[in-house]
Amino acid sequence: MLNRLPSSISSLLDARADGHGLPAGLYTRDDVFAADLDVFFRSHWIQIGVECDVPEPGDATVIDIGSTSLILRRDDDGQIRVLHNVCRHRGARLLDPGPSIVSKLVCPYHQWTYELTGELIDAPHMGQDFRKECRSIKPVAFKSIGGLVFACLSDDPPADVDRLEAVMSERLAPYGLKDAKIAFEKDVIEDGNWKLTIENNRECYHCSANHPELCVSFIDLDFGFDPQSLTPEDRAPAEQHFALYEARTKTWEADGFPSATVEQISNCATNFRT
Ligand code: FES
Ligand SMILES: [Fe+2]
Repeated sequence: MLNRLPSSISSLLDARADGHGLPAGLYTRDDVFAADLDVFFRSHWIQIGVECDVPEPGDATVIDIGSTSLILRRDDDGQIRVLHNVCRHRGARLLDPGPSIVSKLVCPYHQWTYELTGELIDAPHMGQDFRKECRSIKPVAFKSIGGLVFACLSDDPPADVDRLEAVMSERLAPYGLKDAKIAFEKDVIEDGNWKLTIENNRECYHCSANHPELCVSFIDLDFGFDPQSLTPEDRAPAEQHFALYEARTKTWEADGFPSATVEQISNCATNFRT
């Protein structure tokens, strides 16, 4: 996919320098953002919600990824399902944004009616030759991993999500997220390019200055540090801290709670670190 980028974008990628921020155009240009939507959001596995967004059969909620609208819903048999929020007739949106409860999906435009599975069951006045079975709502590749719902808009979803599933399923299991309940929700709209949000999330250089609550559970050293710049006085407690951490990790693993760091972060489509 990256090979197919126009040269004006690939030259920005070539200008990247290790250990530095990306060239400014990768954050500011509209054509780069359009390419980002194709390269990442329409090709990779994206977490679109949690199972408890749709706790009961018939619950549905709408999630947008770029210009694509999806329905996350729970079937009568209790299983979740992800469908395109697009009627097979003239492409109208089937559900409005936000949560809803539905027993059938009825298109507001000309009333084509679909089962919750996406199967078209009623299309008035379409004639004898019309074949309803060819007009089901298009499904989307999805997976629930420990109660976190991932979808992939590609027709060829990256297979390396299997490792994410294998590693994270057992790590998430103790939290019982499938049975969690939502107590509070807030949408945060970041006024900036999505890559800045991800970068901020992936670095904790800012954490000790900005997240006092987080510093109750972690110490500065947990956020990453330069071993060379530790003074001898700081080095001893640091070594003690990491020895303790290593010992604890072994205990947790022995108790059946996988805790060692796992990374899948280069030369792969599905990036994760835990
Ligand atoms: S667009 Fe949905 S029924 Fe016509
Ligand atoms: Fe932060």
